[in-house]
Amino acid sequence: MVPNHHQSKGDMRPVTVRPLARLARSASVESVLGDLAEIAAGKGIDLHSIRVVRAGLDREFRSKEPAIATERVSELEIGVEGGQTRLVLQLRGSPDDAVKFEIEDAAHLAAHRIELLAERRLRPERAGKGRELSPVIEGLIGDSEPMRRIKDAIITAARCSSTVLISGESGTGKEIAARAIHHLSDRAKEPFIPVNCGAFVESLLESELFGYAKGAFTGATVNRKGLFEAANRGTIFLDEIGETTQGLQVRLLRVLQERKVRPVGAHDERDVDVRVIAATNRDLSREVSEKRFRHDLYYRLHVLPLRMPPLRQHQADIPLLIRHFLDLLGQRLSFTTRPEIEEDAVRMLCRYHWPGNVRELETMLERLAACAGEGGVITVGQVQAETFLTQKDASGDIEYVAVLRAGESLDEHFKRQELALYKIVRDSVGGNHSRAARRLGVERTALYHRLERARQQIFGGN
Ligand SMILES: Nc1ncnc2c1ncn2[C@@H]1O[C@H](COP(=O)(O)OP(=O)(O)OP(=O)(O)O)[C@@H](O)[C@H]1O
Ligand SMILES: [Mg+2]
Repeated sequence: MVPNHHQSKGDMRPVTVRPLARLARSASVESVLGDLAEIAAGKGIDLHSIRVVRAGLDREFRSKEPAIATERVSELEIGVEGGQTRLVLQLRGSPDDAVKFEIEDAAHLAAHRIELLAERRLRPERAGKGRELSPVIEGLIGDSEPMRRIKDAIITAARCSSTVLISGESGTGKEIAARAIHHLSDRAKEPFIPVNCGAFVESLLESELFGYAKGAFTGATVNRKGLFEAANRGTIFLDEIGETTQGLQVRLLRVLQERKVRPVGAHDERDVDVRVIAATNRDLSREVSEKRFRHDLYYRLHVLPLRMPPLRQHQADIPLLIRHFLDLLGQRLSFTTRPEIEEDAVRMLCRYHWPGNVRELETMLERLAACAGEGGVITVGQVQAETFLTQKDASGDIEYVAVLRAGESLDEHFKRQELALYKIVRDSVGGNHSRAARRLGVERTALYHRLERARQQIFGGN
């Protein structure tokens, strides 16, 4: 099975990811509590109540089961260090520690969300500063530091109409990012028109983009609107912009400067209101210095740059991506069940260098699942044959990428890194806290307290 860091071992129902993602976006205290209760239920925890303790915001969520006087109830109390919110969870029975740690993780997230909601209400000028929560963007999977930065940049880009230049190797999700910007923007109800600039010769691309007037060339028997006009009020996605000729680059520059298009063979110009997103897998600044790409167009495009990281720089997302693709694959392959995968096979896939990035992961999984057949499990042997990695690679070193954030101190960085590394290790051992502690050579509860301190140092004292 694919490890899921939100689930305990022995309970592999896909119940926790959705409410957890929802919880991170919840807009009211009630929905945070509802999501937390759902997460607890998904982990098989019998929740008696959740109480929010915060001046002016005290709430209680109670399970529908009436309490029995003699039943055993244990209490978990989670506070936001430096904040004012505390959550008190009452659980029936005595769940094992691993499950308890997992629900504490979710409760922490809930407490922070409530704190953020309350802070927003009390001090509106601070709204939007809750950057500890990873934004959820439909279809774009990844919770690693590089993906969080991409998601933040997408959200920023969606709030305005400036031109975006997305760069990145093939298969890193440039198109998915472009679509996300459009769908999150106030142009979402208008068209999103993708154009592959590398797929046409110059004259054809020109008439596709700008349209043509009747009689402009042989075969132009009617006036035809171009794609810029078709995208009016919406977004045009100029994919593979690096493949355009110099002649076309001049015409594109004019549209970007003047927001007007003139169809081929026409005399009049037409106004267009189009948001331009361009993408390339070339290094455009190098293309400029080598005079293959016009510098004036480059600067017009390079208003909001978005650099998609190669998958080898966000390997921590691989287990999540595998889960996501396996969820989709059952249907695509017309299987009645979801394809499964051995944990060691997941670990091995995390070690691969992915020259074709997320697209390669997606197609490899499809091939592996198809070979495993309906009801089959993707094995280490299959992955080995595809990736040429050895078994040792699957179980040995864990490589991860660290990013020193702007303004971050050494101490803050290592505390944050400790949490990130713990997550990676926990994923690599099937989402189990005790096994992660063994792998890290730290006693289980000592590790728990250590992470708790790191968490408080990072999220506490605003
Ligand atoms: N972060 C991600 N989460 C989920 N799916 C992803 C992600 N990144 C890429 N994909 C998937 O990988 C495939 C390739 O993505 P996309 O077409 O956006 O890449 P690209 O950068 O435009 O590639 P190319 O340069 O080859 O055109 C798609 O099926 C897309 O859905
Ligand atoms: Mg593409």
